[in-house]
Amino acid sequence: MSITYMEKERIFRLDTQESTYLLGIVGSEGFVGHLYYGKKIKDITGVQELYRVHENPYTPDENNRDRLSFYDCFPFEYSGHGIGDFRESSIRAELADGSRAGKFTYVSHEIIGGKEKLVGLPATFGTTENAESLHIRCKDSVSGLTVVLKYSVFADVDAVIRSVQVINEGKEEIKLTKVMSASLDMEAGSYDALTLHGSWARERHMERKPIGHGWFGVSSNRGESSHQEHPFLGVLAQDAGQETGEVFGFQLVYSGNFIAKAQMSQFGGVRVVIGIEPEDFCWKLAPGESFQTPEAVLVYSHEGLGGMTRSFHDLYRNHLIRSPYLHKKRPILINNWEATYFDFNTEKIIDIARESARLGIELMVLDDGWFGNRFDDNRSLGDWKVNEEKLPGGLAYLAEQINALGMKFGLWFEPEMISPDSDLYRAHPDWAIAVPGRTAGLARNQYVLDISRKEVRDAVLEQVFAVLHSANIEYVKWDMNRPLADLYSAGLPADRQGELYHRYVLGMYEMQERLLEEFPNLLLENCSGGGARFDPGMLYYSPQIWCSDDTDAVERLMIQEGTALIYPLSAIGAHVSVCPNHTVGRTTPFVTRGNVALTGTFGYELDITKLSEEEKTMVSRQVKMYHTLNDLVREGDYYRIASYGENHLYDCYQVNSKQKDEALLFYTQVLNEPNMHGRRIRLSGMNPDACYRVYLVDCEKDPFLQETDRVFSGEVLMNAGFIMERLWGDFRSKLLFFKQIS
Ligand code: DGJ
Repeated sequence: MSITYMEKERIFRLDTQESTYLLGIVGSEGFVGHLYYGKKIKDITGVQELYRVHENPYTPDENNRDRLSFYDCFPFEYSGHGIGDFRESSIRAELADGSRAGKFTYVSHEIIGGKEKLVGLPATFGTTENAESLHIRCKDSVSGLTVVLKYSVFADVDAVIRSVQVINEGKEEIKLTKVMSASLDMEAGSYDALTLHGSWARERHMERKPIGHGWFGVSSNRGESSHQEHPFLGVLAQDAGQETGEVFGFQLVYSGNFIAKAQMSQFGGVRVVIGIEPEDFCWKLAPGESFQTPEAVLVYSHEGLGGMTRSFHDLYRNHLIRSPYLHKKRPILINNWEATYFDFNTEKIIDIARESARLGIELMVLDDGWFGNRFDDNRSLGDWKVNEEKLPGGLAYLAEQINALGMKFGLWFEPEMISPDSDLYRAHPDWAIAVPGRTAGLARNQYVLDISRKEVRDAVLEQVFAVLHSANIEYVKWDMNRPLADLYSAGLPADRQGELYHRYVLGMYEMQERLLEEFPNLLLENCSGGGARFDPGMLYYSPQIWCSDDTDAVERLMIQEGTALIYPLSAIGAHVSVCPNHTVGRTTPFVTRGNVALTGTFGYELDITKLSEEEKTMVSRQVKMYHTLNDLVREGDYYRIASYGENHLYDCYQVNSKQKDEALLFYTQVLNEPNMHGRRIRLSGMNPDACYRVYLVDCEKDPFLQETDRVFSGEVLMNAGFIMERLWGDFRSKLLFFKQIS
């Protein structure tokens, strides 16, 4: 890792282990131009040609006849607005006189050891030993508006982190109506876009399609990163595959409205921008004030999608997730939601806990319905006081009973919400987000609390803290079950209403930060109606996020595949639930449900007292499987071998230890076929010089780990492959463990 400034060439070079990022200062004006992002280059002699300023339409230095043509094709590192670069702009600010033009040129720079924290925002972190940063100051000479372009690289990960600080150094107030976190001009080529899209219970399905002329993008205007689109855009060379070819990944470390766009220009180059969605965004900046964007992560891989995935996983594990639980086995949890929904009492929860403890489960989580008059989802959000009718003796008694069984106790909250039928709403109707004179739309019978207001945050946290201090609660599930709409804050003046979406997100981050400060040992799991806020911003606060309300093992194959494209398996909340499944009515084998959940955080979400004896035996073996395999799953390198979403028949992925001495292969035959031979499977990332013995991992067998006489060389496994036998029936799954023996 290093950042250097080559004074003579006026070029900045940012190097990671495998990639190089080059930008520089051009012309007497000091335009900041992008030169190159790709495979590592040691000697960059001659690279300046890529500014293309010697081509039509002429250089900025030598030709003043056609400035617009220059502006419209120069690879601006961060393009201004309204001056003749007709491609997607990076920033738009309205000055006091109503004008919106801005042109930013180089003023100064500094190279700094380590990585700064961003006030109020989640951000990647690093030390002076393992990170280096570059800040380039650019200014619009007319308005005095300054942008500081910030870059960081790390010693151990192939990623470039970017963000922008905008400072009003002028004399008058300005309105910022667009501010991207990063912009990247890529050379002409044939590219595909890869995005993650979905819906409730169908999150993060992968979609790949060619990028043509015009623009292609994904965004959210729901106030959350959303079920529907994801703050990620992959730009792939069209010949890039799973483990070969060039792939660029762009992601925003943010949990609110976002946009990621790829735009192909008239010359075939592609400009990518990523940042806060400008629609409904307007931020007032008085002279001297500044605005910091969320961070954008850029990952380059010349080892296809797999290389990109492994860089994201390492980046987030090493430089984003702060939780003390990150590198620990999380307690295996059981959650009562699908077991009881709102219909429970102390006795029922203790029954579930008793049986769970007997089988080795370690944490009992009480979900929605423990507070106020919450007998259904029509009421009581905001009234965070235990319902003693359901839970006589309160949470302290329940936690004591559960602790006495040798289990930890955890609790669900939805702190950002308010029910119209709640004491909180009756006392403070203006705390709900709603436009004056309009009836706000309900979603799941609830409104969103205006947590951009400090008094609202304080009042909610006071209640939450009181509950958490009242009993031994070691885990919290923080839920958020509806998007934002009817945007208006009674706490903001008219000319600041455009700040509400972002202020809401900042308010939520502040609440989570305060929660963790007050309870530093708390295991926090974020959630949003399943996985509507599964994003890197939330991972800064919680090491795991509930991935989806869909717990069906087959649906989870695609949901977890798309999630694992970016996020480490240690972050993916996954539970075994009952069949027929509550979302799709499908019945899958208990073994398959266990295997799929084992590739996430692993837990249960069912009435364990109602399982058959045979299933309970499998639970106790799955618990042992988790304890045996979780270090590998949590810390290993992920390889996608085959995708059910693509072939519609089977799914296969692999996790290798960093030392390559162990590998775990997850195989699911979703649909059986008549008269079929076994399938040839080729592994990835093995040590070619080693030999491996195969073990079968099966919770139907005692012991669950069965040594076989199959031995393969790493070279055979990767090139020739081995035969995965045909399984009998649909939805059948097999787990194989490969252990190096020589
Ligand atoms: C949505 C979550 O995803 C579920 O797991 C559950 O906690 C419900 N909310 C409770 O309302």
